[in-house]
Amino acid sequence: MRFALTCAAVFAMTAATAHAQDADTEAGKSLYAGKCAQCHGKEGQGMAIFPSLQGRDADYIASRLKTYRAGEKVGANSGVMIANAKGLSDDDIRNLAAYISSNFK
Ligand code: HEC
Repeated sequence: MRFALTCAAVFAMTAATAHAQDADTEAGKSLYAGKCAQCHGKEGQGMAIFPSLQGRDADYIASRLKTYRAGEKVGANSGVMIANAKGLSDDDIRNLAAYISSNFK
């Protein structure tokens, strides 16, 4: 009985988590490692002119990436990010935002 209850609870938690995120954080992780970590750091800590991505929520990250993708400037060094965001799909942005916001605290 106790075992069955535990299983049900774990299943419910897993289902809730998957639904809440609705994004592929594993895909976001490999994209980040390949395209973003060299500037923003392995832990999103940033360095020099490259801003830290820690403590940002998914909406913030996604809206910034869409702004850059549209070719709009945000700060003095936006040109760098405009070039980087150009090739990102909506799914890429959702996955990156989910990965960054849930892993870089
Ligand atoms: C060549 C270096 C470089 C790479 C690669 C790069 N970035 Fe950036 N990123 C920057 C710079 C520089 C800025 C600041 C731009 C500005 O002044 O608007 C920035 C800004 C950002 C911001 C806004 C931060 C804030 O505080 O508003 C986000 C989000 C971001 N980058 C995410 C990413 C993601 C995700 C990737 C990978 C797809 C990536 N960056 C790849 C250099 C880089």
